[in-house]
Amino acid sequence: KISDLSEKNDNYRPNFHFTPKKNWMNDPNGMFYLNGTYHLFFQHYPEEPKWGPMHWGHATSKDLIRWEEKSIALYPDEKGYIFSGSAVVDKNNTSGLGKNGIIPIIAMFTYHDIVGERNGEEEYQSQAIAFSLDEGMTWTKYSRNPVISNPGIRDFRDPKIQWDGENQQWLMVLSANDKTLIYTSGNLLDWELASEFGKGVGGHGGVWECPDFFPIKVSNTNETKWVLIQSLNPGAYNGGSGTQYFIGDFDGKNFIPENYLKDLPAEHDYWLDFGKDNYAGVTWSNAPHDIDERVFIGWMSNWQYAQEVPTYTWRSAMTIPRVLEVKKKNDNTYRIFSKPVKQLDSLSQLKYSNDMENTEGEFLLADKSRVNMDKLRIKLQIPEIENREYRFELKNSTGDQLVFGYNDNSGNFFIDRRNSGNTGFSENFANRISTAPRTSDKNILPIEIFIDKTSVEIFYDSGETVMTEIFFPHAPMEKLSLQSQENDFSIKKLKVYELQLN
Ligand code: FRU
Repeated sequence: KISDLSEKNDNYRPNFHFTPKKNWMNDPNGMFYLNGTYHLFFQHYPEEPKWGPMHWGHATSKDLIRWEEKSIALYPDEKGYIFSGSAVVDKNNTSGLGKNGIIPIIAMFTYHDIVGERNGEEEYQSQAIAFSLDEGMTWTKYSRNPVISNPGIRDFRDPKIQWDGENQQWLMVLSANDKTLIYTSGNLLDWELASEFGKGVGGHGGVWECPDFFPIKVSNTNETKWVLIQSLNPGAYNGGSGTQYFIGDFDGKNFIPENYLKDLPAEHDYWLDFGKDNYAGVTWSNAPHDIDERVFIGWMSNWQYAQEVPTYTWRSAMTIPRVLEVKKKNDNTYRIFSKPVKQLDSLSQLKYSNDMENTEGEFLLADKSRVNMDKLRIKLQIPEIENREYRFELKNSTGDQLVFGYNDNSGNFFIDRRNSGNTGFSENFANRISTAPRTSDKNILPIEIFIDKTSVEIFYDSGETVMTEIFFPHAPMEKLSLQSQENDFSIKKLKVYELQLN
């Protein structure tokens, strides 16, 4: 019974990750920034801690970390459940939905018609609009919904809209089975199909979902590239749900991936995150400086077990928000680098630091006598190692351990949660996974780690390789150590912070 378990559940509730107060959450939706406030909407079933008739929940924040949950933004209706989508600030009132000089916020979402689905029709998903005249607090559904009806495609969903300043048009990307469709519009209401992308490129082990598409400056250059983010479920690098990305150019209608991505095989290494728990993530619209850096957040779970994780009054958290940057590497390929948002810096209190530590075997990085192990942020650098492995071990006194690290023989990073605590709720949870072999332009490895009660997020190589995973220990974790097979290896620039959230 829910009431019996609620105490235990709240023991698993994260300290610095967004969770719904009650019941079910999946994808982040409709994120926009306006007048100092970040808005986050989310797939929500407010009645039970499992997926059901979808609503859009709503939360706001000034700093992207401390969120305040608001009342539900969109309720399902006779046209269907409210599936994932996006929102933009229509500054010039191109939609005409603004009134009396008020700038409208336009949200676009997918209607999922369960009657149609039950009757075996193909056309049960369509795209619809809602608008807000009070900065996202209340919403009105557009009277002529749907604005894009279904052309006979089974999975047809998750519109992400974006102003394309270069071509003076609105753009929308939409997932259609295992492809991305690009639409254009002058007014956000009438949409024209411009092109499709994806045939023979990248992973197709499941349905493509929740795309995002935006221009971004390549770091330290004047060049602009377009990024297409495309979640895939199942068929991720490490099974189940995951998010791949493509980089290229846009001619106003077509996305043209870089040459080396044109025939990207299904088994590739262009993943935003190699851990199992970062899915359906997209970026904020209208956020400051978004041509240089896009602010991203993902759903920190995986459809393989999301509905079974051992939290019973609420289910699922979001990742920490991250800034996405594109860098050109020495081999002339472009890669996305993810960084924790800078808003985290002012909430991070430095507990201790250490410039250089020569150590053998095991080095204790943090323990509960020095820092709160559930609000932990660590930065460090490890000089290149050869043909060896190092491992971080997060442990408690009940014998639970979460292990992650790097093996230079194979060039892979790995994470092992087989003995991390409560894992028996799904056969897909207790596993050790690893990345594709990774190459770095540096001979020093900068690492940043965030540890909350039930999650770890590791940014290797300044965020080129990210691993996000959740875990459910029997008791709070108590210490984090670093083990190496190398005698006399060094840790540089260690900084240990505790997040201050009040
Ligand atoms: C992704 C997803 C979306 C869909 C939503 C439904 O996790 O399947 O494609 O819109 O969840 O809740």
